[in-house]
Amino acid sequence: MTATKDKSTAIVELPMLLFLRIADGDGAMSALEMERFDALLRSPDWCRSALLRRSLPLTERDKGALWRRYVDGDLDVDSGAVAAALACVLAELPSEEQAILEQDLLSFSRRILEAADRRAGWFKTDTKAHVSVEALDELIRRPSARVHAAALHRMSKTRPAPTDSGGALHLELAGDDTFWSGGKLSLSCLRVIDETHDVKTFDFVAEPRKFFCYKPGQFVTLELPIDGRIVRRSYTISSSPSRPHVLSVTVKRVENGLVSNWLHDRLRAGMSLSAGGPYGKFTCVDGAAGPYLFVSGGSGVTPVMSMARWLLDTAADADIRFVHFARRPEDFVYERELRLLEARFPNFRCDFVCSRATPEEWSGPIGRFSIELLSQLAPDMISRAVYLCGPDGFTESVRVGLSDAGFDMSRFAQESFGGAPSPSTATAKPADASPAKIVFSTSGKEIECTSADYVLDIALANGIDAANSCRAGQCGVCKTTALEGKAVHDCTDSLTEEDIGLGLILACRARPEGILVVDL
Ligand code: FES
Repeated sequence: MTATKDKSTAIVELPMLLFLRIADGDGAMSALEMERFDALLRSPDWCRSALLRRSLPLTERDKGALWRRYVDGDLDVDSGAVAAALACVLAELPSEEQAILEQDLLSFSRRILEAADRRAGWFKTDTKAHVSVEALDELIRRPSARVHAAALHRMSKTRPAPTDSGGALHLELAGDDTFWSGGKLSLSCLRVIDETHDVKTFDFVAEPRKFFCYKPGQFVTLELPIDGRIVRRSYTISSSPSRPHVLSVTVKRVENGLVSNWLHDRLRAGMSLSAGGPYGKFTCVDGAAGPYLFVSGGSGVTPVMSMARWLLDTAADADIRFVHFARRPEDFVYERELRLLEARFPNFRCDFVCSRATPEEWSGPIGRFSIELLSQLAPDMISRAVYLCGPDGFTESVRVGLSDAGFDMSRFAQESFGGAPSPSTATAKPADASPAKIVFSTSGKEIECTSADYVLDIALANGIDAANSCRAGQCGVCKTTALEGKAVHDCTDSLTEEDIGLGLILACRARPEGILVVDL
């Protein structure tokens, strides 16, 4: 097949692929969605691209044949197939035509989505269709997303399909494409577990099924369709990579918290959402070796729980002291599981400390953190590697307490939460800032700035929805591709050599030098 024929085939198939991804993602395509699709093919007044206008009648002509191929399983509609078709169609188009075609495809997806939402009913949205459209938007707008998805698609064509038993993958037949170790993916909620009165665990599987590869202690960023927009939040992965079929996050309901309340009230088994990651460097895998002392406060239990599960699953002699602080007995997350682990593993011991309980309410230790209390619970703490996670004030008390007690801080690692992300602040602002410009290729914005400005700050200040979390170069959530020009970093902690080779930058810590084009 010649390149020209490839392209002419791809442009005819592309609207059908987009339609099937959105309308049949839940396996329940409605008459309303089909009518909308037919109308879009028949009346292309919504379409500005000359190429697409010419091909829509051909899509309408071939619709029946494409549908039969789809039903017979001969038409791939996974995101890799869409990415490959997009890459083929958009390649070598002049940039102006490319932009018009991209806008048309986004508009096409939105119109199908509208029909999906109408089917869902008043005041409801078709969550699966929204997730599909978000993923398609990413493929349409971002060349790097297309390259990644198309590469996975090519690999999947050369490997035997993994067998499926009750939806689970079998490791012996899995190929590279069945392992998720980075990037965006679609998740399906498998179950929701009540941990305490205000904490739930959400278990997910990948769609299509994949094994989750990450380091215990890392986190993912969930993308949630809330009130008609996508809201991103980062949550620690509470499951262990030693059990790679399922990825879990454990979330505390926060008063007036948009995302935590949505997750608690709306997310149910079978619903889909997108996620990116894994991110973060707080992990026992790359840190000081055991014996270990895990100290957590409140929701800070999640990364150290993942580490404990990992170590007990994979190391025969894991020696762990686990000390968890919470306000009241009913606030202890994972209490039953931790006590069970203590009963099963002779080198695992856990203690639960209540800061606000009376002796009638709690027979264990009571009080706020103090180094004296910690040394009572873990008398050999000086010989252990400490991993600490909790609210800012709590972690600061523990860190200072350990340091003052002469603890070897090279065997100490911590992660805190509670402080709202603030604008990236320069650690070494150039004294002689020069004029610069950032071109945001996906958003189509060109912003004049200076070489002292961070890419992320400029993006957010100009209404560009750029993913971010720590804004300090530590988590990696803000990674994006520098398509042209040079960026100067003042911290590359969360970039790997491979990232740098691929042209990735940390938007929160990168400043433009001259003109910088980024994939945002
Ligand atoms: S937002 Fe965390 S590294 Fe940039």
